[in-house]
Amino acid sequence: MKRTIATAAITVALTLPTSGWTEEAEHSGHGTHAAGELSAPGNAVKHEMRLLDAAYKNLLDSILLDTPEAIEPPFHEVHRAKMATEKALHAGKVVLPKNGDKLGEFIEMDEAFHGKLKKLIGAARKKDRKGIQDSAHEILDSCVQCHTRFRK
Ligand code: HEC
Repeated sequence: MKRTIATAAITVALTLPTSGWTEEAEHSGHGTHAAGELSAPGNAVKHEMRLLDAAYKNLLDSILLDTPEAIEPPFHEVHRAKMATEKALHAGKVVLPKNGDKLGEFIEMDEAFHGKLKKLIGAARKKDRKGIQDSAHEILDSCVQCHTRFRK
């Protein structure tokens, strides 16, 4: 199991856009949440989810207001939180509210999900409005799918 988690962590790291993602995340002052929370908080998944929730709502606003350049920054914070979740997974500190014995499946879903975020960021950088909207729909489906499986 440890091995699976390590492989997943590496895969997730590799699927992120290569240019400036991490650096920008370190120095970005964007978003409404406090930056600089490097240590894993009590519940890493919940922490990541709250940031993800804010980033997704910002995505919807950006579609409605036609400001594709505003989509990416909040996802940098999600990415940093994701790293904390990886650490917590390694340390065996992630307890899922439902189907807690299926951590491998959770990691797979999470990986696929982050692949979709990567696609969204790619579309946002190109200001590809159709691509952005398609991604937003796909991502919402994934939120619901994972919650159905792992959230009470
Ligand atoms: C790979 C699985 C997965 C995906 C994908 C996912 N979530 Fe979650 N989410 C969870 C789990 C598990 C919890 C419950 C965590 C807990 O209670 O410990 C959760 C909880 C939440 C919460 C409640 C946090 C809290 O404070 O209790 C919100 C809000 C949320 N998710 C939003 C989203 C949004 C928005 C998306 C999609 C953009 C999304 N999630 C995608 C697994 C996922």
